[in-house]
Amino acid sequence: MNTIIRRATSEDRHAICEIQRAAILETCRRCYPTEDITVWAGLLSPETYYDVENRYIVVAERAGILEGFGQLNEAEGEIDALYVSPKSEGQGSGTALLRHLEDQARSHGVTELKLRSTLNAESFYARAGYDRMALVRYRLVPALMLVCVEMRKRLPD
Ligand SMILES: CC(C)(COP(=O)(O)OP(=O)(O)OC[C@H]1O[C@@H](n2cnc3c(N)ncnc32)[C@H](O)[C@@H]1OP(=O)(O)O)[C@@H](O)C(=O)NCCC(=O)NCCS
Repeated sequence: MNTIIRRATSEDRHAICEIQRAAILETCRRCYPTEDITVWAGLLSPETYYDVENRYIVVAERAGILEGFGQLNEAEGEIDALYVSPKSEGQGSGTALLRHLEDQARSHGVTELKLRSTLNAESFYARAGYDRMALVRYRLVPALMLVCVEMRKRLPD
């Protein structure tokens, strides 16, 4: 069965939260200290996505199961989030979500997309054509400073 990409609805909030939590706890754990992972995952709840329908959030769905989600800020030309469930890693959902967000950005006149990549995802984005700009420290909450990689990609016309 094919993976489809569609806009998220408020019914997807629990599944989106679980995907993000699992990706942080399993995938991001490979590159960040356990203390940071615990604080980071602990910030999430379905309420984090209370306004899911007002943001540009899409999900990757296969056979009724959500495999991942991505969020685009069209006004800022920025990918705010891209997470795939560890169970579905390496099966193409991340690429499908990223392509969709890039197409959406392009259709809104965005010529260059930026993002803050986690350390574990840098090579994924590099393969997709994103250039490393700088290593940055990003304070998510007062108790959590994450080291991330600022990356950019010029979108073809
Ligand atoms: C990064 C992430 C979104 C990739 O999603 P995915 O569905 O596993 O990616 P895909 O299956 O589309 O992989 C595309 C290609 O990138 C490669 N790839 C995937 N993750 C990679 C990684 N971390 N490092 C290097 N290569 C990677 C795959 O092997 C694949 O290569 P191929 O085209 O030669 O087969 C996913 O691993 C994830 O959610 N990670 C945790 C959350 C995270 O860090 N998100 C980024 C926040 S900015």
